[in-house]
Amino acid sequence: MDRFLLQLMPALRMFFYSEQPPVARFLGDASYLSIAAGKKSYEKWQKDHSATISCFIDKPEDTENVMNLLRKNFQHPDTEALRCGIFVFLRNRGAVIVADHSGTIETILNGSKDLKMKGASGRLSGKIVVVTGGARGLGKGISEKTLKEGANVIVADMNEQHGSVLEKEYAQKYGPNKLIYLKCDVTRVDSVTAMLTEVLRTFGGVDVFISNAGILKAGGLEELAVEDFEFVTDVNYKGFYICTRMVSQIMKAQSAARPGYFSDIIQVNSKSGLQGSNRNFAYAGSKFGSIGLVQSFALELVEHGIKVNAVCPGNYFDGPLWSNPDNGLFVQYLKAGKVEGARTVDDVKKYYEAKVPMNRGVSIADVMQAIFYCIEQKYETGQALPVTGGQIMLH
Ligand SMILES: NC(=O)c1ccc[n+]([C@@H]2O[C@H](COP(=O)([O-])OP(=O)(O)OC[C@H]3O[C@@H](n4cnc5c(N)ncnc54)[C@H](O)[C@@H]3O)[C@@H](O)[C@H]2O)c1
Repeated sequence: MDRFLLQLMPALRMFFYSEQPPVARFLGDASYLSIAAGKKSYEKWQKDHSATISCFIDKPEDTENVMNLLRKNFQHPDTEALRCGIFVFLRNRGAVIVADHSGTIETILNGSKDLKMKGASGRLSGKIVVVTGGARGLGKGISEKTLKEGANVIVADMNEQHGSVLEKEYAQKYGPNKLIYLKCDVTRVDSVTAMLTEVLRTFGGVDVFISNAGILKAGGLEELAVEDFEFVTDVNYKGFYICTRMVSQIMKAQSAARPGYFSDIIQVNSKSGLQGSNRNFAYAGSKFGSIGLVQSFALELVEHGIKVNAVCPGNYFDGPLWSNPDNGLFVQYLKAGKVEGARTVDDVKKYYEAKVPMNRGVSIADVMQAIFYCIEQKYETGQALPVTGGQIMLH
């Protein structure tokens, strides 16, 4: 990851923390580079923007030096100032604008003077939330609910088509906070690094990382190809490790800058991470293994202000995995005659619903309730929370 951004952005964002964490955006294009070229060009800009709070840092490479200068310039993080944006110019690097919301930053950069933007309210107001695999299915639902609760949401997914549609759909709907799509393959370090670097540039940090990207390839021991086993393990297990390895660096920098500040890593696991799954061992193994990672990461990261938990949903029957009319599991099971006596997709669905004591599949709202719990509580880490309508009971 870009060491300069990694050290500077979380530190700046946490320094200006007022009622809630602000948003910090790096401005490195030619126009800001020319202003940041030296004290003279900065002072000229300052004259033209006399109403704007700003400062110039001569040696930005040394984050400690930057923070010392900021402490001298700004006595208290100021909510009012954040509503109008604060510019920190960094010699030969560009600038960082810090403000209460991404909407405020965009309003300022577009040259508008109307800064009376209403703050996003909700349970996640001001938080920066990354959702991997957020372009479709459960992840899409989590991204949408998270946005509606006031967070800035980064949908990190391989599927460009679904991701771009989602970004467009929400572009106009939510003023102060926003949803963006970034292409990302969680199995590749370079891809996760590039995504997180862009998150640092655009928002300045990560408060909640929801590791949701996951795939399922079912099959018994003699059917499932070794390549398929590896593929499932790569996305569901190794992908979670790679994401945690990279995002925890940002979260560590946040808690170093603001001791006592907690961030969250939440893995969307499965009931198959708590109980074996017949002819579905690749998936169940990857999910069981991930709970081992959750517990181990939780122990390692707790001293850095990072909670690591998993939520373990039951079957999400309304999502594409089960309900896709062409190749969803209901259609596949009907064709394969897996459910005795079933004549329609609905018969298959009813059969699976009846396996759940609460007689229905999990909903996005159910999963969100568990995610809110993980974020809002302050005294649990390393847990795997079932969301299964009573299908799985912990010992
Ligand atoms: N659907 C269910 O019934 C169910 C139940 C319990 C748990 N889960 C878990 O929930 C998560 C989401 O499942 P879903 O059913 O919504 O899946 P889905 O197939 O509907 O969506 C998965 C998303 O992940 C993305 N993705 C796949 N590989 C990726 C990679 N390498 N990098 C980045 N993105 C990638 C896909 O493009 C897609 O948008 C998974 O971890 C799954 O194990 C699902």
